Amino acid sequence: MTTPKERTPMALQPLLDETATYASGFLEGLAERRVAPTATAEELREQLGGPLPDEPHEPRQVVADLAKRAEPGLMAMPGRRFFGFVIGGSLPAALAADWLVSTWDQNTGLYAPTPATSIIEEVCGAWLIELLGLPEDASFGFVTGCQMAHFTALAAARHHVLETDGWDVEANGLTDAPPVRVVLGEERHITIDRALRFLGFGVASLRPIPVDGQGRMRPDALGAVLAESPMPTILCAQAGNINTGAIEPLRAICDIGHESGAWVHVDGAFGIWAAASPTLRPLVDGIELADSWATDAHKWLNVPYDSGLVFCAHPAAHQAAMGTHASYLIHSEGQGRDPMDWNPEFSRRARGLPVYAAIRSLGRSGIADLIDRCCAHARRFARALGQAPGVEILNEVALNQVLVRFLDPGGDHDARTRATIKAVQEDGTCWLGGTTWRGKAAMRISVCNWSTTAEDVDRSVEAIVRAASRWRR
Ligand SMILES: Cc1ncc(COP(=O)(O)O)c(C=O)c1O
Repeated sequence: MTTPKERTPMALQPLLDETATYASGFLEGLAERRVAPTATAEELREQLGGPLPDEPHEPRQVVADLAKRAEPGLMAMPGRRFFGFVIGGSLPAALAADWLVSTWDQNTGLYAPTPATSIIEEVCGAWLIELLGLPEDASFGFVTGCQMAHFTALAAARHHVLETDGWDVEANGLTDAPPVRVVLGEERHITIDRALRFLGFGVASLRPIPVDGQGRMRPDALGAVLAESPMPTILCAQAGNINTGAIEPLRAICDIGHESGAWVHVDGAFGIWAAASPTLRPLVDGIELADSWATDAHKWLNVPYDSGLVFCAHPAAHQAAMGTHASYLIHSEGQGRDPMDWNPEFSRRARGLPVYAAIRSLGRSGIADLIDRCCAHARRFARALGQAPGVEILNEVALNQVLVRFLDPGGDHDARTRATIKAVQEDGTCWLGGTTWRGKAAMRISVCNWSTTAEDVDRSVEAIVRAASRWRR
């Protein structure tokens, strides 16, 4: 039995070697294993549950059991034929760097105790700003996901628009504060509403703007709302609709918003990555004009979960909203960057490292190629499925998202679409989910994984068409 005291580097080596073997076995199996999990909740509880252990267990046995018993309940999510939600895989360098994050176990809230991990985030932040074409002097933070990136950016926005109106929200809170108008598209992502709720803006107070057929906010409808009265305003735009992938006309939205003094925030969870591809960059024209941006590295950059990114064109507002001081902390005085000044987290893992590794391993050209390739695969899906009988593509496939509807000769298209999604999930060749788009049930295909090939798309199309052909009312 190994007790914690005995965990010397010698005792650790076999444990880590074995864990590496489990990990590479899992990853190598992704190409051919059934994508969906097989185990039921009861089976998993039986395998993983039991009473609270009284005695220590041998670490090698703990990890061996964990790897074996959890496996049937895992989705091949980092695999090449997983097209659900909007989920990337893990680039090899990013995955390995993530292991180092846990190994080094650096609490990267401050520069002074862990200069290397802080400098890595500093370097990586500057790379990202260049890659995405954001203003050179923008501030940034490495957060857990786009949800917290919204929270951080919208906290900075709240600070800035109220400060402009003579109100210090950090000191005085929202009670008696001047009202803030929050304007956003009808088709924004739900995490925007959630971040606003966290910040004290009730969802009933939000001002939704009508959208076009692809879910993009209509700039012609925006001007009238902003012109109603001059008041502190936060305007949320979107680069990448969760269903259609459509990117809003960012230049027009920023221009109209700024005319009335609004802070413009962009939800670019995945769509902002169009900026990293010279071919797709025109889709995000004007993005650099916004005041804040939220995105993910765990989606299209293919960094392991969890990894979100926030950028802000007003570093003073960003720091005022997030920064904190205590006498026992060692705040950097100019020599380095304290991540906790830019993040909602206090203690935190060195979350920037896998992002750094992803960027170094792909380089600018490799990232452009990753984005372009995923979009080409999405078009391949749309072309092939669109030619199949009784299949309709519902969106303009400008990015990596495809919405598919299966027509029922009897007219119950929703039922056939939902049944086809379920049948594809059960078949296991690939995995994708469903949605309701404009009142119609649809299959959602999202291509985000670095390892997906054209052959994977063709195999998945075959599986989808096969599942659709089995439809019986
Ligand atoms: C447009 C958009 N915004 C925000 C999010 C939330 O991202 P996260 O899950 O990383 O918080 C998503 C997730 O799919 C998204 O597609």
